[in-house]
Amino acid sequence: MRRVAKDTKARVTLTLNGKKTTGEAESRTLLTDFLRHEIGMTGTHVGCEHGVCGCCTVLIDGVAARACLTLAQAADGRSIETVESLTGLDGKLNPLQEALRDHHALQCGFCTPGILMSFTDYLKRVPDPTVEQVKDVLGGHICRCTGYQGLIDAMMDGAKRMRS
Ligand code: FES
Ligand code: FES
Repeated sequence: MRRVAKDTKARVTLTLNGKKTTGEAESRTLLTDFLRHEIGMTGTHVGCEHGVCGCCTVLIDGVAARACLTLAQAADGRSIETVESLTGLDGKLNPLQEALRDHHALQCGFCTPGILMSFTDYLKRVPDPTVEQVKDVLGGHICRCTGYQGLIDAMMDGAKRMRS
């Protein structure tokens, strides 16, 4: 009978939302599972696990990336920012989050963390986007609830709020 080699765990240390964080991960453990199950940081959602839906988007060294396509061990030594980083210690929402709330741009909220992190990255580079550019970014995210118009309005308004 063929024996399957046992995967050994390795220590993974990353800077998570500005704080040095350590856990253990097997070589095949995804960053999504590491964040949610090993660290207990559940704001990053898991949908398709194939890089399609976008709900797992986090920032890796400041750039938006799919956590479901990233191995936890590959994140060792990197800076990871999740949706939890957007809210202040006092629980205050940031301007982008406030715009989503004010435009009723979420219902179940499953897609919301990924969309927030994609725009957090995008607005650093393009602080005054056009509607077409906002649609392009939203093209990387699947939302089954809102019909997207509320999201477009929220991101246009959120960009304006971020600029001021
Ligand atoms: S869960 Fe990562 S893109 Fe869908
Ligand atoms: S708010 Fe439900 S999937 Fe987007």
